[in-house]
Parts: sequence; C-alpha cells; structure tokens
Amino acid sequence: MLKIMIQRKFFAIIPKKWCKFEKFSSEARCSSPGNKGEGGGGGKGDGGGVGDGEPKKEKNSKNKITVVEGDGIGPEITKAVKTIFDAAKVPIEWEPVSVAPQLDDKGNMIIPPEALESFKRNKVGLKGPLMTPVGKGFRSLNITLRKEFNLYANVRPCKNIEGCPTPYKDVDIVTVRENTEGEYSGIEHEIVEGVVQSIKLITKEASMRVCKYAFEYAKKNQRKKVTAVHKANVMRMSDGLFLNSAKEVAKQYPDIPFDEMNLDTLCLNIVQDPSVYDVLVMPNLYGDIISDTCSGLIGGLGLTSSVNMGDEVAIFEAVHGTAPDIAGKDLANPTALLLSALMMLEYLGLNDVSKKISSAVYGVLKERKVRTQDLGGKSKCSEYTKEICSKL
Ligand code: NAI
Repeated sequence: MLKIMIQRKFFAIIPKKWCKFEKFSSEARCSSPGNKGEGGGGGKGDGGGVGDGEPKKEKNSKNKITVVEGDGIGPEITKAVKTIFDAAKVPIEWEPVSVAPQLDDKGNMIIPPEALESFKRNKVGLKGPLMTPVGKGFRSLNITLRKEFNLYANVRPCKNIEGCPTPYKDVDIVTVRENTEGEYSGIEHEIVEGVVQSIKLITKEASMRVCKYAFEYAKKNQRKKVTAVHKANVMRMSDGLFLNSAKEVAKQYPDIPFDEMNLDTLCLNIVQDPSVYDVLVMPNLYGDIISDTCSGLIGGLGLTSSVNMGDEVAIFEAVHGTAPDIAGKDLANPTALLLSALMMLEYLGLNDVSKKISSAVYGVLKERKVRTQDLGGKSKCSEYTKEICSKL
C-alpha cells in the first residue's frame, strides 16, 4: 500500500518538475495555450468530423492558412498542393513560415516565435514533413508543435482508393491517436551509465479527451464502432487508466458500439481482416504504429492524410516523412498532403471546392495513366500535379 502511495506521489510530482528541464519548448505540456482540460474540443464540427463544434470560418474569417513547407520532399509536395489549389481557385491565402529551430537568449532551441504567432493567429495550418535528427540534436519539431498547441488527437482516415489496389479490400478505418503524452512524453533520463529510463505518462484528462474526440468523430460521421486499443493486461496502471477512461466515455454514447482489444490481438486481426475495424482510439505509441499499419493496408504513406487536432489550432499534414532518398528529384507523391489539405478545406467549411478537387484526384488515380513511382507509375510529381489540374 505504502509502495503504491509513494509511486503515485512520485509520478504526480515528477512530470511537472521535469518539464523545467526539458530544453526544447518545455513548458508546452505543462501549460499549453490551448489546454482547456477534459473533453474540450472534440469533433462536433464541420469538415469530415474533424472539427470541434464551431465552424472554423468564424475563427479564421479570411481563410488565412499557416503553411510550413518542411524538409526533403516537403517543398515539392507543398508546391503541388498550392498549384492545384490555384487551379481550383480555392479562396484561401497562404502564410508561409519556417519552423527551423533557433537558439533563444538562454541557449535553448526554440521554434521561431513568428511561426508560433502565425499558427496562433490563423488557427489552421498545413505542414510538410520535418526532419528529426536521430538520438541527438534538437527534439522532434512535430512533437514540439503538438505540445505547443496541445494538438491532442491525431486523426488518420484510411480507406481503399479506387485504382490503388492492395491485397486488402473494404478497409475503412480511422485511427485516433493520443498525441501529447504516453510513450512520447519526452521524459527520459540516465540513472547510471548503461541504464536509462523513459516514462510513459498517462493521465485521465488526456485519455478522456482523446476518447471523447473518437466518440464524437464516430457520432458525426455515422461510424459503426469505436475500439479502444491497449495493453492493460501488462501495463495495468497506465493502459488500465486509458482503458477505464475509454469505458467511462463509452457510457456517454450508448448508441455507438464500443469494444476493446489488446494491441497484439489487433495487430494479428487487422492484417487478416481489416474490414471488421472502424474507429480505433489508443495511446500515443500504439497510434503511431497502427496508423502506419493502416496506411500500408490502403497502399502506403503516400496516400494517407491526417490532422493534429487541438482545442484552438488544427495542423493538417501528410503522415510520411521527408523521404530524403527522393528529395529534389520531382519523384514525390503529393497525394497524402493534398488529401490532408482537402480535410482542411472541409474543416474550414469549404466543402464544395474540396469535393471538386477530390473528384479530380480520385479520377486521376482511378485512370491509372498518370501516377508517381511509389504507386507503380512512371510520372513525375509535376506531371501528376498537371494531370489533376487538367481535370479541374
Ligand atoms: P519517410 O516517410 O520519409 O520515407 C519512407 C519511404 O517512403 C522512403 O522510401 C520514401 O522515399 C518513401 N516515401 C515517403 N513519402 C513519400 C511520398 N510522398 N512519395 C513517394 N515516396 C515516399 O520515412 P523515414 O525515411 O523514416 O524518415 C525520413 C525523415 O522524415 C526522418 O527525419 C523522420 O524523422 C522524418 N519524419 C517526419 C514526419 C513528419 O514530419 N510528420 C513523419 C515521419 C518521419
């Protein structure tokens, strides 16, 4: 009993304390600008169910969008999206910013304040992939942005696309990943040489919030079921808390079927018959892995859109990385970023123009004449972009 009490106290105190020691944008988790607490936000709005209940147009009346081109193939695919949006006469204005890390006056690495201000002002952003150095250097800018704006839910719809066949049919899964804590809390330290400890932080507040988002998404989009994915049989306290939170939220949505599944069982089942899954909600690391798995089920990272949703700010992005092996060669597939940008248009309430562009892009993919190499084609990114524009 005493041990449990000490453990609880330890974990209640330590995370706040360690926030002070996190060098890069450290206050984000402890005092996020958009952090309004449990259940805030949560998917009632426009835009394919990714909204928070209020039309974003009111918050962003000029439809000004903060855009980060990103690294590697980022500039090429962003250019493709802008070209297609110009061809479709999308009524938005881009505000380009760089998030290349800089040193502040205390020697800490920070995201340029102008970039953060732009996101705060516009509330909606489109982001290309960002390079993260492995094991050293600055922290992941993606994680920093998620923490800075409390982008608590990462939403990735994965549905088969006609003209992009895979061994799997009838895939229509939406992963909702907790985006701010869990295994990616960034709380790591060395106890003695050769022994490191990484803390998986799970809070009821964040678990309830992301589960509520998943149910609201399911409700708004007439989805069939919500499944909570966990390893509560092993991580009884942390995943147990996540699972219990999911069960608690599920009670508020008696019309939406709910079940739960161990992560390993889900991995087995999802590659045998993905059609039985609908909305999956899970802690951070599992969400990272399972959402990429789902992406593979529909033909790869080049086709999967996503949004990082917060109370105040929403950042839309492709799920793939910077693809350094093909960067600068005009070989990248811009579809994932384009589909993310279409989700963004729906979020802004610009559904008609979103539909117009989506029928052009799905039309080109269905024809199978002009497609990029990752999809088995021979076309360049610019040729594929031109083909979509010609359909508009
Ligand atoms: P990656 O996604 O960049 O590349 C994996 C493979 O997929 C490569 O063969 C690449 O050529 C291909 N690929 C990815 N996107 C493609 C596209 N749009 N069109 C055609 N082929 C595409 O993953 P990797 O190599 O592990 O990561 C590279 C860098 O990207 C790392 O620094 C990583 O941290 C960063 N990254 C950034 C993300 C983000 O900003 N959201 C997400 C994932 C990785």
